[in-house]
Amino acid sequence: MRRQIAAANWKMNCTFQHGEKLLDEILGAKIALQTHQRVLFAVPYPYLIMTRSEVEEELNYYAAAQNCYNKQSGAFTGEVSAEMLHSIGVLYCIIGHSERREYFNENNMMLAEKVSLCFENSITPIFCCGESLTIREAGTQNDFVATQLKESLFHLPAKKIRNIIIAYEPVWAIGTGKTATIEQAQEMHQHLRSVLAGQYGTNIANEISILYGGSVKADNASELFNCPDVDGGLVGGASLVAEDFIKIINALK
Ligand code: PGA
Repeated sequence: MRRQIAAANWKMNCTFQHGEKLLDEILGAKIALQTHQRVLFAVPYPYLIMTRSEVEEELNYYAAAQNCYNKQSGAFTGEVSAEMLHSIGVLYCIIGHSERREYFNENNMMLAEKVSLCFENSITPIFCCGESLTIREAGTQNDFVATQLKESLFHLPAKKIRNIIIAYEPVWAIGTGKTATIEQAQEMHQHLRSVLAGQYGTNIANEISILYGGSVKADNASELFNCPDVDGGLVGGASLVAEDFIKIINALK
Protein backbone atom coordinates (compact mmCIF):
# COMPACT_ATOMS: atom_id res chain seq x y z
CA MET A 1 0.00 0.00 0.00
CA ARG A 2 1.12 3.57 -0.69
CA ARG A 3 2.37 5.54 2.32
CA GLN A 4 -0.52 7.17 4.19
CA ILE A 5 0.61 10.36 5.88
CA ALA A 6 -0.75 12.84 8.41
CA ALA A 7 1.45 15.93 8.25
CA ALA A 8 1.01 18.75 10.74
CA ASN A 9 1.90 22.21 9.48
CA TRP A 10 2.24 24.49 12.48
CA LYS A 11 3.12 27.50 10.28
CA MET A 12 4.19 30.47 12.46
CA ASN A 13 2.24 29.36 15.52
CA CYS A 14 3.08 28.17 19.05
CA THR A 15 5.79 29.20 21.46
CA PHE A 16 8.48 26.59 22.10
CA GLN A 17 6.81 25.64 25.39
CA HIS A 18 3.39 25.32 23.82
CA GLY A 19 4.88 23.27 20.99
CA GLU A 20 6.55 20.84 23.40
CA LYS A 21 3.29 20.40 25.29
CA LEU A 22 1.36 19.82 22.07
CA LEU A 23 3.82 17.13 20.96
CA ASP A 24 3.70 15.49 24.39
CA GLU A 25 -0.08 15.34 24.21
CA ILE A 26 -0.16 13.91 20.71
CA LEU A 27 2.61 11.37 21.31
CA GLY A 28 1.03 10.58 24.68
CA ALA A 29 -1.91 9.09 22.78
CA LYS A 30 0.50 6.28 21.83
CA ILE A 31 -0.99 5.67 18.42
CA ALA A 32 0.99 2.76 16.97
CA LEU A 33 1.43 3.44 13.27
CA GLN A 34 1.34 0.64 10.74
CA THR A 35 4.37 0.17 8.48
CA HIS A 36 2.76 2.12 5.62
CA GLN A 37 1.73 5.05 7.86
CA ARG A 38 3.72 8.18 8.75
CA VAL A 39 3.08 11.19 10.97
CA LEU A 40 5.12 14.33 10.27
CA PHE A 41 5.38 17.50 12.34
CA ALA A 42 6.39 20.49 10.22
CA VAL A 43 7.46 22.90 12.93
CA PRO A 44 9.27 26.27 12.92
CA TYR A 45 13.07 25.98 12.48
CA PRO A 46 13.98 26.68 16.14
CA TYR A 47 11.86 23.72 17.26
CA LEU A 48 13.24 21.12 14.86
CA ILE A 49 15.86 19.61 17.15
CA MET A 50 13.42 19.41 20.03
CA THR A 51 10.80 17.81 17.78
CA ARG A 52 13.30 15.35 16.37
CA SER A 53 14.29 14.22 19.82
CA GLU A 54 10.63 14.00 20.96
CA VAL A 55 9.84 11.59 18.11
CA GLU A 56 13.13 9.71 18.22
CA GLU A 57 11.72 6.68 20.01
CA GLU A 58 8.44 6.69 18.09
CA LEU A 59 8.26 4.47 15.06
CA ASN A 60 7.23 6.29 11.87
CA TYR A 61 6.89 9.74 13.48
CA TYR A 62 9.20 12.44 12.06
CA ALA A 63 10.09 16.12 12.29
CA ALA A 64 9.78 18.17 9.10
CA ALA A 65 10.87 21.67 8.10
CA GLN A 66 8.40 24.12 6.54
CA ASN A 67 10.81 25.49 3.96
CA CYS A 68 14.44 25.69 2.88
CA TYR A 69 16.37 28.02 0.59
CA ASN A 70 17.06 27.42 -3.11
CA LYS A 71 20.84 27.73 -2.79
CA GLN A 72 23.32 25.24 -1.38
CA SER A 73 25.08 27.70 0.98
CA GLY A 74 26.55 31.19 1.09
CA ALA A 75 25.80 34.80 1.92
CA PHE A 76 22.01 34.57 2.32
CA THR A 77 21.38 36.07 5.75
CA GLY A 78 18.42 34.57 7.52
CA GLU A 79 17.99 31.59 5.22
CA VAL A 80 18.31 27.88 6.00
CA SER A 81 19.68 25.29 3.56
CA ALA A 82 18.66 21.70 2.91
CA GLU A 83 22.17 20.66 3.94
CA MET A 84 21.68 22.32 7.34
CA LEU A 85 18.40 20.48 7.83
CA HIS A 86 20.08 17.21 6.92
CA SER A 87 22.88 17.93 9.40
CA ILE A 88 20.38 18.00 12.29
CA GLY A 89 18.67 14.81 11.15
CA VAL A 90 15.60 16.31 9.49
CA LEU A 91 14.32 14.02 6.73
CA TYR A 92 11.30 15.92 5.37
CA CYS A 93 10.66 19.48 4.20
CA ILE A 94 7.56 21.25 2.86
CA ILE A 95 8.33 22.98 -0.43
CA GLY A 96 6.19 25.54 -2.22
CA HIS A 97 3.40 26.04 0.27
CA SER A 98 0.88 28.51 -1.18
CA GLU A 99 1.75 30.99 1.58
CA ARG A 100 5.39 30.90 0.42
CA ARG A 101 4.26 31.36 -3.18
CA GLU A 102 1.96 34.24 -2.28
CA TYR A 103 3.87 36.21 0.38
CA PHE A 104 7.45 35.39 -0.61
CA ASN A 105 7.04 35.28 -4.38
CA GLU A 106 8.25 31.72 -4.76
CA ASN A 107 7.79 30.55 -8.32
CA ASN A 108 7.87 27.15 -10.02
CA MET A 109 11.50 27.55 -11.17
CA MET A 110 12.75 28.41 -7.70
CA LEU A 111 10.81 25.48 -6.29
CA ALA A 112 12.44 23.15 -8.84
CA GLU A 113 15.80 24.16 -7.35
CA LYS A 114 14.58 23.62 -3.80
CA VAL A 115 13.23 20.17 -4.64
CA SER A 116 16.58 19.20 -6.21
CA LEU A 117 18.52 20.44 -3.19
CA CYS A 118 16.28 18.44 -0.89
CA PHE A 119 16.97 15.24 -2.80
CA GLU A 120 20.71 15.99 -2.97
CA ASN A 121 20.65 16.22 0.82
CA SER A 122 18.52 13.10 1.41
CA ILE A 123 15.45 15.08 2.40
CA THR A 124 12.02 14.10 1.13
CA PRO A 125 10.18 17.15 -0.22
CA ILE A 126 6.49 17.56 0.51
CA PHE A 127 5.71 19.50 -2.64
CA CYS A 128 2.59 21.69 -2.47
CA CYS A 129 0.45 22.55 -5.46
CA GLY A 130 -3.04 23.94 -5.84
CA GLU A 131 -5.12 26.61 -7.51
CA SER A 132 -6.64 29.89 -6.34
CA LEU A 133 -10.37 30.57 -6.31
CA THR A 134 -10.15 32.62 -9.52
CA ILE A 135 -8.59 29.70 -11.35
CA ARG A 136 -11.14 27.24 -9.92
CA GLU A 137 -13.98 29.53 -11.03
CA ALA A 138 -12.49 29.80 -14.51
CA GLY A 139 -12.39 26.00 -14.62
CA THR A 140 -8.69 25.85 -15.52
CA GLN A 141 -7.45 24.20 -12.30
CA ASN A 142 -6.35 20.98 -13.99
CA ASP A 143 -3.97 22.72 -16.39
CA PHE A 144 -2.76 25.01 -13.65
CA VAL A 145 -1.67 22.24 -11.27
CA ALA A 146 -0.23 20.19 -14.16
CA THR A 147 2.02 23.16 -14.98
CA GLN A 148 3.11 23.41 -11.35
CA LEU A 149 4.18 19.76 -11.44
CA LYS A 150 5.85 20.03 -14.84
CA GLU A 151 7.86 23.16 -14.05
CA SER A 152 8.96 22.16 -10.56
CA LEU A 153 9.26 18.37 -10.68
CA PHE A 154 9.66 16.95 -14.17
CA HIS A 155 13.42 17.55 -14.25
CA LEU A 156 13.69 14.77 -11.65
CA PRO A 157 14.60 11.24 -12.68
CA ALA A 158 12.08 8.49 -11.88
CA LYS A 159 14.21 7.09 -9.07
CA LYS A 160 13.94 10.39 -7.21
CA ILE A 161 10.38 11.44 -7.93
CA ARG A 162 9.02 8.09 -6.76
CA ASN A 163 10.01 9.18 -3.23
CA ILE A 164 8.40 12.61 -3.28
CA ILE A 165 5.27 13.49 -1.34
CA ILE A 166 2.79 15.78 -3.09
CA ALA A 167 0.24 17.88 -1.23
CA TYR A 168 -2.72 19.18 -3.19
CA GLU A 169 -3.94 22.28 -1.39
CA PRO A 170 -6.62 24.34 -3.11
CA VAL A 171 -5.72 27.86 -1.96
CA TRP A 172 -9.41 28.71 -1.46
CA ALA A 173 -9.67 25.96 1.16
CA ILE A 174 -6.63 26.86 3.27
CA GLY A 175 -7.54 28.26 6.67
CA THR A 176 -10.97 29.22 5.39
CA GLY A 177 -12.98 26.38 6.88
CA LYS A 178 -14.11 25.68 3.32
CA THR A 179 -13.00 22.16 2.48
CA ALA A 180 -13.01 20.77 -1.05
CA THR A 181 -15.80 18.25 -1.50
CA ILE A 182 -14.88 14.59 -1.55
CA GLU A 183 -15.58 14.58 -5.30
CA GLN A 184 -13.38 17.63 -5.94
CA ALA A 185 -10.54 16.15 -3.91
CA GLN A 186 -10.68 12.71 -5.52
CA GLU A 187 -11.03 14.17 -9.02
CA MET A 188 -7.98 16.40 -8.60
CA HIS A 189 -5.86 13.72 -6.95
CA GLN A 190 -6.68 11.35 -9.78
CA HIS A 191 -5.77 14.07 -12.27
CA LEU A 192 -2.43 14.70 -10.53
CA ARG A 193 -1.69 10.99 -10.58
CA SER A 194 -2.48 10.80 -14.29
CA VAL A 195 -0.17 13.76 -14.99
CA LEU A 196 2.59 11.91 -13.11
CA ALA A 197 1.76 8.71 -15.00
CA GLY A 198 2.00 10.56 -18.33
CA GLN A 199 5.58 11.52 -17.55
CA TYR A 200 6.86 8.61 -15.47
CA GLY A 201 4.47 5.71 -16.11
CA THR A 202 1.66 4.23 -14.05
CA ASN A 203 3.83 2.20 -11.68
CA ILE A 204 5.76 5.22 -10.45
CA ALA A 205 2.62 7.39 -10.29
CA ASN A 206 0.94 4.75 -8.15
CA GLU A 207 3.80 4.82 -5.65
CA ILE A 208 3.60 8.56 -4.94
CA SER A 209 1.61 9.68 -1.90
CA ILE A 210 -0.68 12.62 -2.66
CA LEU A 211 -1.98 14.39 0.46
CA TYR A 212 -4.97 16.70 0.59
CA GLY A 213 -4.63 20.02 2.44
CA GLY A 214 -7.13 22.79 3.14
CA SER A 215 -9.35 22.78 6.23
CA VAL A 216 -8.82 19.12 7.08
CA LYS A 217 -10.57 18.67 10.43
CA ALA A 218 -11.19 15.87 12.90
CA ASP A 219 -14.68 15.40 11.50
CA ASN A 220 -13.92 15.37 7.77
CA ALA A 221 -10.55 13.56 7.73
CA SER A 222 -11.96 10.05 7.42
CA GLU A 223 -14.08 10.67 4.37
CA LEU A 224 -11.31 12.62 2.64
CA PHE A 225 -8.66 9.98 3.42
CA ASN A 226 -10.97 7.24 2.23
CA CYS A 227 -10.90 8.57 -1.35
CA PRO A 228 -8.83 6.09 -3.36
CA ASP A 229 -6.27 8.69 -4.51
CA VAL A 230 -6.05 10.66 -1.25
CA ASP A 231 -3.17 9.38 0.88
CA GLY A 232 -3.61 11.48 4.00
CA GLY A 233 -3.48 15.19 4.71
CA LEU A 234 -1.38 18.29 5.28
CA VAL A 235 -3.09 19.90 8.23
CA GLY A 236 -2.75 23.48 9.48
CA GLY A 237 -5.26 24.75 12.05
CA ALA A 238 -6.45 21.37 13.30
CA SER A 239 -2.87 20.19 13.91
CA LEU A 240 -2.56 22.75 16.71
CA VAL A 241 -5.22 21.03 18.81
CA ALA A 242 -3.95 17.72 20.21
CA GLU A 243 -7.34 16.06 20.39
CA ASP A 244 -8.15 16.98 16.78
CA PHE A 245 -4.82 15.90 15.33
CA ILE A 246 -5.03 12.59 17.21
CA LYS A 247 -8.37 11.96 15.49
CA ILE A 248 -6.83 12.89 12.16
CA ILE A 249 -3.97 10.41 12.68
CA ASN A 250 -6.53 7.75 13.55
CA ALA A 251 -8.35 8.49 10.29
CA LEU A 252 -5.40 7.35 8.14
CA LYS A 253 -6.11 4.34 5.94
P1 PGA B 1 -5.48 24.54 7.13
O1 PGA B 1 -4.01 24.71 6.47
O2 PGA B 1 -5.60 23.10 7.55
O3 PGA B 1 -5.47 25.47 8.32
O4 PGA B 1 -6.47 24.92 6.11
C1 PGA B 1 -3.51 23.72 5.63
C2 PGA B 1 -2.15 24.16 5.09
O5 PGA B 1 -2.00 25.32 4.75
O6 PGA B 1 -1.23 23.34 5.01
